[in-house]
Amino acid sequence: MVWVRACGVGDIEPGEAVVVEAVPPVAVFNVDGEFLATADTCTHAESSLADGYVEGEQVECSWHMARFCLRTGKALTYPATTDLPTYRTQVRDGDVFVDVHATQPH
Ligand code: FES
Repeated sequence: MVWVRACGVGDIEPGEAVVVEAVPPVAVFNVDGEFLATADTCTHAESSLADGYVEGEQVECSWHMARFCLRTGKALTYPATTDLPTYRTQVRDGDVFVDVHATQPH
């Protein structure tokens, strides 16, 4: 486990995301006050999903509009066909942490 501080709890508005500069980069999304983390790079090409559009528990890539489930990482719509890795998050003392080395089973 490698817990990395992503941001303060109040730093991401609901529907927004921050990128943790890990290898590969991880996006941490605020989904109605819950923090969900996936790989930031779209599995279709190279777009940052943190720049995408969040709707409910899904993100739509801003480039070719593939949709992914933020909870499971599942690729939901074409042109993406490969699921995203997801990562565990934790809120501690007002900060959001993400375990950048362990992907979550789903
Ligand atoms: S890069 Fe995301 S859908 Fe093409």
